[in-house]
Parts: sequence; structure tokens; C-alpha cells
Amino acid sequence: MKPLDILIMAAGKGTRMHSHLPKVLQRLAGRPLLQHVLDQAAQLQARSAIVITGHGATEVEATSAGWIRATGQFDLKFARQEPQLGTGHAVQQALPQLRTDGTVVVLSGDVPLTQPDTLRALIAASQAASATLASVSGGALALLTVTLPDPTGYGRIVRNAQGAVQGIVEHKDASTAQRAITEVYSGILAVPARLLAPWLARLTNHNAQGEYYLTDIVAMAVQDGVPVLAHRIDDALQVAGVNSPVQLAELERAHQLRQAHALMEQGVRLADPARFDVRDDTRSGVRGELVCAQDVEIDVGCVFTGRVELGDGVHIGAHCCIANATIGAGAVIHPYTHIDGEQAGVTVGAGALIGPFARLRPGAHLGREVHIGNFVEIKNSTLADGAKANHLAYVGDAALGERVNYGAGSITANYDGANKHRTVIEAEAHIGSNCVLVAPVTIGAGATVGAGSTITKTVPAGALGVARGKQMLLANWARPTKQPKP
Ligand code: UD1
Ligand code: CA
Repeated sequence: MKPLDILIMAAGKGTRMHSHLPKVLQRLAGRPLLQHVLDQAAQLQARSAIVITGHGATEVEATSAGWIRATGQFDLKFARQEPQLGTGHAVQQALPQLRTDGTVVVLSGDVPLTQPDTLRALIAASQAASATLASVSGGALALLTVTLPDPTGYGRIVRNAQGAVQGIVEHKDASTAQRAITEVYSGILAVPARLLAPWLARLTNHNAQGEYYLTDIVAMAVQDGVPVLAHRIDDALQVAGVNSPVQLAELERAHQLRQAHALMEQGVRLADPARFDVRDDTRSGVRGELVCAQDVEIDVGCVFTGRVELGDGVHIGAHCCIANATIGAGAVIHPYTHIDGEQAGVTVGAGALIGPFARLRPGAHLGREVHIGNFVEIKNSTLADGAKANHLAYVGDAALGERVNYGAGSITANYDGANKHRTVIEAEAHIGSNCVLVAPVTIGAGATVGAGSTITKTVPAGALGVARGKQMLLANWARPTKQPKP
């Protein structure tokens, strides 16, 4: 295998996105389109990638350089194309940085769903020709093509009577007969690098659009006796580009369906693969990855962000959002639960019951059989095995021991307006309803806090702490009566 150098076309404007964000930075599954394409380059073990930038060049270059620095996979370079005079002109701008001993693969920064196997087959077609056709100087021009029911707008693959490719004719330059051709050029090709320079030098812009067409190199290859091979695929999604929000959403659904099918093939039971999403975490760049053990069931409308692990037999109810979290075996997450571990992560122990309408925030670490009910928020706190907070509560910066029962409406007052303080509640303590635990404060093992208490001092182990107004009784109390209007 010759080394691979990838050229990524990313200078176009993307007018139809109607966005301030350059098109190739629009996100699919939380990941910028260009990053999807750079991932393809990484999967092919490319030696280098040259991104051709123009519109939004500074932003595109700054953002994408960061991703590669983070992974260190290959040599990433940029070539500016200003103004944009066509796809051939774009490749001309990259030529000075392109090594001549490799195979070049041309990709588009706005075509995110091409499968590495498809590209490998295309590269093989470009390289294999050197062995089979010894008369040739080595290598072939390999075009990725697809047959579309409506080929309007695309470059048509023109073949001779024997079926050999003769050239590509752009839609605007095509005759009526040529427009009837349904096999189109995908915008993706593979070619030995050393063949490119002489062809690019011969390009002209004498065509309907006044552009330098990269596709004109096909006829030049035929003229020069270089074999031209069309690698035709059926799956149009693999070569579909993003030009509008509608197309972006279509590809998003296609990508999500693909991820859903891969999980179902491993045994994950999705109530509806069309209502399921796994995304990168756009805040941290953590890759969207849902790792499932056996017998996991996921109801409709769930969104998984970043890395999420679900243990054996976990059930996720409808419409849960779960980010950067690990859910233990047999745990049940009831509908409408929001779990977001951000950087600190969230862990839910085996057999826990969470929700409906619960919120677990960064640093929530829950033991086995913990119960968290509706409208309960947990942040930066550990709850040991069997602890329960079943209704309307806030637990922040706290450590709850085993089997603590945390009453409805109770909160930790963890923030004094300047600093955060910790609350410690030892094993088997019972916090009544509607209590305020003013941190820093400790509730000892087995202690009880009476309902409605505002606790500011330690409650020792085994004690009852009550801190509320004493009840007063006035017998036969006559309520005020309404005065008659004058
Ligand atoms: C091109 C092909 C056409 C093919 C189609 C597939 C040419 C002349 N035509 O069409 O045969 O069917 O792709 O989608 O190549 N770009 C630049 N600089 C430019 C022009 C374009 O970087 O000066 C980039 C765009 O950002 C885009 C890619 O090249 O990523 C393709 O450009 P686009 O205008 O979408 O394709 P067409 O030229 O219409
Ligand atoms: Ca164009």
C-alpha cells in the first residue's frame, strides 16, 4: 500500500445553511461535519490530510487543528483557496503541499457518512491497476459513483459503447442525452498523486459556470491512457452532502439509525430505533459512545451524550437525557430523567430506581438500591447503598450513609453566597420532610431530624434534632368575619 494523503474540500460557502457558522463546522451527532471527514482519514491511516479552506477559513482552521492536536493521528495541513474558482482550482491550491509518492483521496468536508470500507475499495481500485495494467505508468484514476433516481445538479459519468468511462460532464454543461444518465460522480476520487500536477495545469474554465472543474481530469486521464475506474455504490447516503438544514437533519437521522442498528445487533432492545440519539458532548468534545451490557431496554426519545455505560438489564424509560454516566446492573431509570455527569461523571449503583423527573448532576455517585424519586436533584454527593430521597429534594455537596431516608421537600443549604460547604448524614439517619440542613453540618448515625427543622448544629448519633416553632393552640378560635359593604 502506498501512503495516503487526503484532500478535503472545505472552501465552499454553504449559503443555504443561512448560518454564521461555516458549513463544515455544522454538527451531526454533536460532531462537526469536517471532524467526521477527518475521522475517515484517521480510519484509513492516512499519512496526511490537507484541508482546503476559504469561507470562514480562520475559524475552520483553528477548530480543526485542535481536534487533531488532541488525537495526534496524522499530519494536518491547510491550503487557502481565495477566491473559490471551482473544485479543480481548489486542488491546485493544495498541490504545493502534496507529496508525489502517495495516493491522493479527494473528499468533501460536507459529506460525513462515507464508510471507511467504501474508501478502502476505492483506494484499492486506484492502486491495483498498476499491477494489472503493466503498460501503464502505474495506478488508475478511481471515481466513486452512485446511481440516483434524480441526478439533477450532479456531474454525469459518460461511458463509451464498451462501458468504459470517458469523462464527467457537469449538469450545466450536459446535453439532453447526457442529462438522462443517472450514474453520477460523488465528488470522491482516488488517484496516484504524481499524475495530478500535469492534469491540473491543463484545466481551463471554458464551461457553463466559468469554473475550473476537477472533473475535467477524467477526460485527460483517458487521453493519456491512464485507466479510469468507476467504483459504483448503491447507498446514496454515503456520498450525500449537507447543503441545507433539511439535508443535515436527514443525514442526522440516517446516522442515528445506523448507530441504533449496530446496538440492536448486539442485543440492545430499542423501543423505536427512529427515536434514539447518541451524540458527542459538544462542551468537552467527548465522543458519543453508548456501551451496553446484556438485556438493556431503552424506551423512545432518549438522548445519550458523551460516554454512557449501561449495565446488565438496565431499563431506561421514555424521554431521558443521559450524559457521561455509568448505570449499574438492573437499575431502572424512569421517564423524563435528566442525568448529566459533565466532567465529573455520574454513577448509579446496581438495582437503583431513579425518577421519573429526577435530575442527577456532576459528581452524583449513588450506591446499590438507591431510590431517587420525582423532582429530586443530586449534585456532587455520594449516596451509600439503600439511601432514599423519594420526593422534591435537593442534595448538594453531601455524603449520605447507607439507608439514609431523606424526606420530601428537604434541602442541603450548601451555599452561603460565597462558598460551598459539605453536609454529612451518617448511616440510617432519618431526615423528616421540609428540612433545611445548613452546611457545614453533620447528622450522626441513626439520628432523626424532625420535619420542618432548620438544622445548623450537629445532631449526634441516635439523637432527635427538632428546630422549628413550637405548635400553639387557641381553643374555640373565631375567624374574622367579612364586614358588610357600606
Ligand atoms: C461537484 C462535482 C460534480 C459532483 C458533485 C458531487 C465538480 C466540478 N463537480 O459538483 O461532478 O457530482 O460535486 O457533490 O467538481 N469547493 C471548494 N472550492 C471551490 C468549489 C467547491 O472548496 O471553488 C468545495 C465545496 O465546498 C464542496 C465541494 O468542493 O465541499 C464540492 O463543491 P460543490 O459546489 O458542492 O459541488 P459541485 O461543484 O456542484
Ligand atoms: Ca459548484
